[in-house]
Amino acid sequence: MLDPGSIRQAAEIIKKGGLVAFPTETVYGLGADAFNPIAVARIFEVKKRPHFDPLIVHVATQGDLGKLVSSIPSDAKRVIDKFWPGPLTIVLLKKEEVPEIVTSGLSTVAVRMPRHPMALSLIGHAGSPIVGPSANPFGYLSPTTAEHVRDQLGDQIDFILDGGPCEIGVESTIISFSGTKPKLLRPGGVPLEEIESIIGQVEIHPRVEDKPLAPGMLPRHYAPRTPILLDWEGKNFDFDRDKKIGLLVFQESKWSFKFHHIEVLSEKGDLREAAANLFAAIRRLDKLNLDLILAETVPEVGLGRAIMDRLHRASAKELPIDEAYRSD
Ligand code: TXA
Ligand code: MG
Repeated sequence: MLDPGSIRQAAEIIKKGGLVAFPTETVYGLGADAFNPIAVARIFEVKKRPHFDPLIVHVATQGDLGKLVSSIPSDAKRVIDKFWPGPLTIVLLKKEEVPEIVTSGLSTVAVRMPRHPMALSLIGHAGSPIVGPSANPFGYLSPTTAEHVRDQLGDQIDFILDGGPCEIGVESTIISFSGTKPKLLRPGGVPLEEIESIIGQVEIHPRVEDKPLAPGMLPRHYAPRTPILLDWEGKNFDFDRDKKIGLLVFQESKWSFKFHHIEVLSEKGDLREAAANLFAAIRRLDKLNLDLILAETVPEVGLGRAIMDRLHRASAKELPIDEAYRSD
C-alpha cells in the first residue's frame, strides 16, 4: 500500500514547487514545500483560502521541527513525546526562516507529525517540511478519501496519493503553547482528556468568538451546501412532508418520519467509528439535493467533542468574512 514509485514521483513534484494531495490519519492534506513561498501561494489560490488563515506544517522527524522553531516549552515537549506521530498540532513561536505566507504573518507556526506512513514517507523523500491544509475548497467539508479530493480539486492539482480512507476522519487537535498557558484552538483527533492527563488543565477557546484565533474556528466552516440543522430535538420540530429531508444520526433513528435518506454514524455507538464516518456521511447527504439535513447530537466526550465542533460549524449561519473576523 506504500507504493514507493508514486511516493517518489509525488516527492519530486513537491521539490519542483508542485501541489500533491496526500493521505494522513485525519483527513487528506494538500501538500507543498513549506519553504517555497510560491508553491504555498498556489495552495491559497487553489483552495480559495483567505491569506489571513495560516497553514499547518507537517514534519517527519524532530529534526524537521528544528527547522521551524527554536525552542520547545516543556509541556509542548511532553505532548510531542506522547502523541507524535499522530493527530496533534502544536502552535509555537516560529523561526524567522519560516515564510510569512505559511503563518499569515503571525509570529507563531502550527506543526504536526502525521502518523500515516505515506505522509511520513512523502515528507522524508521531499526533504523538507510540507504545508498541508485539508485538501478541500475553503469552508467545505474535509476530504477523507482520495476520491473526495479528485471530485473537488482534481483538475487543479499536480498529483493525488491514494492511501485509502482516513482512519480518524476529523482533523488534528490544535493546542497553542505560545502564551503563558496551553490553549485548545481546535478539538480534533486526540481527545482533550488525553492531553490533560499529560499536562493538566488546558484553556479552551470558546466556540464562537469575535475574533477567531484559527479560521477553523470561524462560526461557519466544514459546511456542506445543503443547510444542516442541529439542536432541533425536543423542540417540537415540525417535519415538513413537502420537503426532502435527510437525517444524520449517531446510532439509530428513533423517528417515525419518512426521511429521504438516513446516515448512521456508528450502529454500535462508537465515537471513533462515528468520527471516521462523519465527513463522508455528510458528503453523501449533500449529493442528494435535499432541502435540509437534520443532525442529531453525539455525547461531547472523547472524539465526540471534535464531532460536535464540526457539526456546530457545519450548521452555523454564513457570515460575511469581515464580520466573522471582526478586528479589535
Ligand atoms: O488534521 C489536520 O490538521 C489536517 C491534515 C491535512 O493534517 N490539516 C488541517 O489543516 O486541518 P487546515 O489548514 O484545514 O486547518 C489548519 C488550522 C486552521 O484553522 C488554521 O487557522 C490553524 O490551523 N492554524 C495554523 N497556523 C496557526 C497559528 N500559527 N496559530 C493559530 N492557528 C493556526
Ligand atoms: Mg481545513
